[in-house]
Amino acid sequence: MNKNIVILGTQWGDEGKGKVVDCLTKDSSYVVRYQGGHNAGHTLVVNDKKIILHLIPSGLLHKNVIGIIANGVVVSPFELIKEIKMLETHNIFVHKRLFISNSSPLILQYHIEMDIAREKKLGISALGTTGRGIGPAYEDKIARRALRIGDLKNEKTLSIRLEKIVNYYNHQLVSFYKHKPVDYKIILRDLLPTIDLIYDMIKDTTSILHTAIQSNKKIIFEGAQGSFLDIDHGTYPYVTSSNSTIGGVITGTGVGSKSLDYILGVTKAYSTRVGYGPFPTELFDDVDKHFSKKGHEFGSTTGRKRRTGWLDAVALCRSVRINSLSGLCITKLDVLDGLHEIKICTAYKNINTLEIISFPDIDEWKNIEPIYETYPGWNKKTLGIKKLIDLPYEARNYINRIEEITQIPVDIISTGPDRSDIIFVRDIFFIKK
Ligand code: IMP
Repeated sequence: MNKNIVILGTQWGDEGKGKVVDCLTKDSSYVVRYQGGHNAGHTLVVNDKKIILHLIPSGLLHKNVIGIIANGVVVSPFELIKEIKMLETHNIFVHKRLFISNSSPLILQYHIEMDIAREKKLGISALGTTGRGIGPAYEDKIARRALRIGDLKNEKTLSIRLEKIVNYYNHQLVSFYKHKPVDYKIILRDLLPTIDLIYDMIKDTTSILHTAIQSNKKIIFEGAQGSFLDIDHGTYPYVTSSNSTIGGVITGTGVGSKSLDYILGVTKAYSTRVGYGPFPTELFDDVDKHFSKKGHEFGSTTGRKRRTGWLDAVALCRSVRINSLSGLCITKLDVLDGLHEIKICTAYKNINTLEIISFPDIDEWKNIEPIYETYPGWNKKTLGIKKLIDLPYEARNYINRIEEITQIPVDIISTGPDRSDIIFVRDIFFIKK
């Protein structure tokens, strides 16, 4: 039996992981966020109500589940409290069942100002970040100057270190970026009242997870962003600042690879990307309009229009290998309903040399062109279908082709935004390894 399941994105984020996590956590004891911060946006529809979570693990909507924000996550205490209060308005209370690692780096105002100032200075070369301070917060961690959640427990040293860091940031913000400075006293004034609210949640989450594993509890590891936004394996520099591929689970929680039983790669039935950077299958035609409108392809964190394109199986196969995926979950299949034909990119060609490129390096991206296989679309509705057998023949064909190309099974198919719009092809908790 598979107890510990990782759910991660195989594309550029926004694959629909939140809903899948929500569905699978129903049968689990723990749900764990291991990387990223409130740059993520996980949208869930429960009883026709839309709930968007950025930082709190999506699975916490189930009342018996314990949520962990592990050490790999960068945490804004303000965002955390905002989300806790938002959940309370939906009668979801997280008291005594949400724990935050004492080692998680904090995101504070100076990170956000630095993120914004940098993007502004980069002008047309900007990365298109979410402006949430994610990059600067991870830089502080690597530079070993970060304030971490555990530091909130000692007000005196917190204020001394905060003042030093603010001086360091203000020097760059003002002298180099010609940006407004931040005020250390205001940051401290706003931060102090948050401490009481989260004090009891601060724990050694690694130990909690080790105990849970020893007690045979089921754990869902909830990824944020997608594999090609990974700082090491993504389309650098157009990436986020964390490891959104499988390695992030291990470093971001303190749980070793032997304890991970099944790795589910969540893949949208087509592709989207927010922000700038390579996107070989990008479309600018009526199909783009179809995906945007029918798929509501607007960022849940920033509201930006997502770029859209056909499914990129070259990237997907790379993702299968990077993450050692056990199986796939195809989401938003219903968005393809009504398209006359459907394409899958199965290779990249260099437009100058006409060579087939296995995976482009940084300078090669601009010279590649996707090679497509084309399949007939379907005119029937797949929205809300719950059994594989009920899908139109052409839709099953499309799924089969994805399995053939990637050489791994499609175990779950999401056919709409609601929790219940889902096909479980196999029960992944019971698949033999
Ligand atoms: P950052 O994570 O805010 O630094 O943004 C870096 C890049 O990652 C930008 O292109 C963002 O649009 C993208 N990004 C960050 N988080 C998400 C996400 O949750 N979904 C999709 N794209 C994201």
